[in-house]
Amino acid sequence: MSALLDNLPQYRDMTARDLDCVMAIEHEIYANPWTRGNFQDSLDAGYHCWIIELMGEIAGYGVMSIGADEAHLLNLSIATQWQGRGLGRELLKYMIGLARELLAHKIYLEVRLSNLAGRALYARAGFREIGTRRGYYPGAGGGEDAVVMELDLK
Ligand SMILES: CC(C)(COP(=O)(O)OP(=O)(O)OC[C@H]1O[C@@H](n2cnc3c(N)ncnc32)[C@H](O)[C@@H]1OP(=O)(O)O)[C@@H](O)C(=O)NCCC(=O)NCCS
Repeated sequence: MSALLDNLPQYRDMTARDLDCVMAIEHEIYANPWTRGNFQDSLDAGYHCWIIELMGEIAGYGVMSIGADEAHLLNLSIATQWQGRGLGRELLKYMIGLARELLAHKIYLEVRLSNLAGRALYARAGFREIGTRRGYYPGAGGGEDAVVMELDLK
């Protein structure tokens, strides 16, 4: 029974003690990773910072702020070795459920134009693309555009 439970993803609050591991994953999967300060600020601000664990290992994390009926999904990440197994979809479902529970009416997020996996993940969860922020992400040649996506929870 416990072996079975070990294979189910577990969710828990992120704490400052997780940041070494979170930063290692962040650097592994993003060309322009969040800084440790970005995560610490999110924790200090009381944003919803979640860890998804599998077999006692941090497989990914999500950060979402909620205020004035609106949620903003700020970070959703799955470590390379755990990608492609449905965990991103599970974590996103979990964050959407949380936003609903906390009475948000909409969830907004930004995703790189070139991030086809991320855009497909969000589109399959019901998000629609509502705009573009030009040069939102730092990078060579004036940065990369962000696609703004919205999920209506009403
Ligand atoms: C994007 C990310 C969160 C997806 O998590 P994941 O656990 O690998 O994805 P899942 O196995 O749950 O797949 C869920 C859906 O995502 C999409 N997806 C995932 N990997 C994909 C890929 N390589 N190409 C295209 N679509 C992909 C698909 O729509 C998939 O649904 P399907 O299997 O029914 O087609 C993860 O790959 C990741 O952390 N990438 C780096 C960071 C990032 O891009 N974060 C999101 C940007 S805001």
